[in-house]
Parts: sequence; structure tokens; C-alpha cells
Amino acid sequence: MQKIVVEGGRPLRGEVRISGAKNAVLPILCAGLLADGPLMVRNVPNLHDVKTTLRLLADLGAGIHLDDSFDIRIDPRSVRSHVAPYELVKTMRASVLVLGPLLARHGAAEVSLPGGCAIGSRPVDQHIKGMQALGAEVSVEHGFIKARAKRLKGARVVFDMVSVGATENVLMAATLAEGRTVLENAAMEPEIVDLAQCLVAMGARIEGAGSGRIVVEGVERLHGGEHAVVADRIECGTFLVAAAMTGGAITATHSRPDTMDAVLDKLREAGAELDCDGDRISLDMHGRRPRAVNIATAPHPGVPTDMQAQFMALDCIADGVGVVSETIFENRFMHVQELLRLGADIRVEGHTAIVRGVEALSGAPVMATDLRASASLVLAGLVAGGDTTLDRIYHLDRGYENIEAKLSGLGACIRRID
Ligand code: UD1
Repeated sequence: MQKIVVEGGRPLRGEVRISGAKNAVLPILCAGLLADGPLMVRNVPNLHDVKTTLRLLADLGAGIHLDDSFDIRIDPRSVRSHVAPYELVKTMRASVLVLGPLLARHGAAEVSLPGGCAIGSRPVDQHIKGMQALGAEVSVEHGFIKARAKRLKGARVVFDMVSVGATENVLMAATLAEGRTVLENAAMEPEIVDLAQCLVAMGARIEGAGSGRIVVEGVERLHGGEHAVVADRIECGTFLVAAAMTGGAITATHSRPDTMDAVLDKLREAGAELDCDGDRISLDMHGRRPRAVNIATAPHPGVPTDMQAQFMALDCIADGVGVVSETIFENRFMHVQELLRLGADIRVEGHTAIVRGVEALSGAPVMATDLRASASLVLAGLVAGGDTTLDRIYHLDRGYENIEAKLSGLGACIRRID
């Protein structure tokens, strides 16, 4: 199995190009199923989760064409199956996003229940509730969500809690429903706005994406179209935090500063000088050690849960004490045990971690437990003395395109070994 070895101690310097967002491209690829012509998706990050989604779409019968620059053409006209099998869904929870498109376009969908994952139980009750509100008959049998409807009917859907995935699934389904659907308490993440823009390019009628209330006027059909995926604000945030931890100065290009206010504010609080110019974000620490920051994760526009582990890594070597509260997922502190192995001083009380910054971390073998936890360990490795060896890096490959090449380009000493 492959591992990543990081030798700490070098400030990051230079430019890094930000890829398309993982969390935007996955629903967008699934949205291709709604159309009756091909959808061309550009700025696609080359990630394991993207390949899993393509495998799932191909399994359903869609034609998939990938060109050299990893632009993807999905042709849904050959879709024959409406079953998303356990083997694919279990490896990637986002597979549940085929539920809405299959149901809306083909009148039936059977999607394996994703089950738990490392960061918590992650139920799908809000997805199911939304489909039922649109008139679908839904049952859960033999580990599958089975949904049926002749044609979905527009309705008012009030989510019990803010869910990115449920908002996306019901939004996609509503585009082909008869009449008007109003989604209340909808998630406001930039990835939802990006999905809505793609759907509009395919002929959907959507207003309010990016707010807590999305209104969809159902249409008879969606044609194919073309869409370029929004920049990955989490990848971008990860590099910026890495630079701040190392006392470095980097510029993230092809980014979207307007989608990451909360993260940029926290970096300023940590002592970073930031300059945003179009799609470029420049960060300079002027060689200083970061100050500790308090983090409480929240739905957008709050601090994303997907940045919590990285900010905790920053607090580990910062000046002062940072309090990190995780409010979205029940079990998202698995990186704590590994950070302790590197010499961090962290005390966990329920959903809160109290992180006392130490002068230095020391490299050690550590194990990745989920995607963003892995990123936090790489970041800690960048400032730890000696070698940090990260095992189970398949988590990292699910969500970061060429992370070691990008970090090497910024002057880090990082390599992949077998
Ligand atoms: C998405 C992101 C993930 C991010 C998360 C929160 C993708 C592919 N993944 O995941 O990276 O960490 O948003 O920003 O975009 N919940 C329920 N019932 C439901 C649905 C969700 O109780 O039916 C709960 C979850 O257990 C969790 C919270 O709601 O506690 C938020 O989850 P959700 O926003 O749905 O996350 P995902 O869409 O799975």
C-alpha cells in the first residue's frame, strides 16, 4: 500500500493552481442523468471519487467520454438501469445523489443505503422526506431505498436540518416535477449554486440557489449542456492553512475568494496578510508563527466542517489556545489521536477540542482515517521535525488532486512511496 512521507520544516512559497470542486462535480455528474442529451463538464478534478461516480453512471448505462484534459461528456440516452448497487454506494456516500435524477427522469430508483462512515452515522432521511413530498412512494427494503413516481409533483419541502446532499437531491428531482417546488431551509453552499447553474444551463428554471429558499419551476425536459465546475474552496483553504502554518507566502490561482469568507477571516485572525485579486488569493505570514483561532463549524456561510481538521492542525503549533467545536458531524475528531502522536496538546470534551499550541511537533508514523483528517496530518507533517509517514492515503486521493505534486511545487519535501 502507498504511503506519503513529509519532511517538515520548509515554509511554503510560490503559486498553486486550485482544481474544480469535488463536492460540486459529484452532484453535477449525477445531474447528467436528468437530461435527454449529452452534458459536457469541464474543470473536473482528477479524483478517485470522480472515477467512482463515473463507474456508477456507466453501470446505469450512461455513455461516458473522457478527453485528455479530463473534460467529461455524459450521454444519458443509453441509461437502462435505475439501480445503484451497494458495491459502489458503500465506497462513496455521494452515490445517493443519483436517487433524485433517476426518480425524476425514469420514474423509479433503487439506491443502496450508504450506511455509516468514519465521521458519523450520516442518515438520508431528509433525502427520502423530500422525494416523498414530491409525491414519490418510497420504501426502505433489503438495504435499498426504493422510490417510484409516475411524474413527480412540485411541493413545498421544509428540511428539518440543513443538508447539502438532501438539498441537491431534491433540487435535481424538482427540475422535472410538474409545477413549482419550494425548498425551505435549503443548504446555501457554493456547490449548490454551481449545481443550480449547471441545471439552468440544461434548461431548468431555478431561483434562489445560494439562499435558504430555492424555488424551482418544473419543466418537461432538460437538454444537455455545458458547464465548468466551480473552484474547490476546501482544497484552496487547505493550501492557505498549510502556508500559514509554515510561516510561508503563497498565491492560490483559479480560486473563488467570494466563496470562502469565513475561512479567509479565520486566516486573518491567525495573523495572515491576505490579498484577493480576481481569482487569485495571496497569503503572506511574513515568517511569523500563527496565532491560535477558535473554530465552530457551521453550514455555509460559516466555517465549513471540511476545514475543521486543517484549522486544528494550525492550532497545534500556534501561539495560544484554540477551541475547536464540531457541530455538523458527531464523530469528526479522529485526527486528534494522530495529532497527539506528533506531539500536539489537545483535550477533547464532547464535540469540543481544546488545543494548546506547542512550539514544535515531531514527525511520526500516522494513519489517515478520513479525507480531511488526512489533510490535517499532511499539514502537521509540514511543520513537524523529521519525517511524518502517512498510511491509508487512499482517503487523500478521494478528494485532493495531485496533492504531493502541488505541495512539492510550493517547496515542501513530500513524496509518495510504495
Ligand atoms: C456534504 C459534503 C461533505 C461535507 C458536508 C457538510 C459532498 C459530496 N459532501 O456531505 O464534504 O462535510 O456536506 O458540509 O458534498 N443529515 C441527516 N439526514 C439527512 C442528511 C443529512 O441527519 O438526510 C445530517 C448529517 O448526518 C450531518 C448533517 O446532516 O450531521 C449535514 O450533512 P449533509 O449536509 O447532508 O452532508 P453531505 O451532503 O453528506
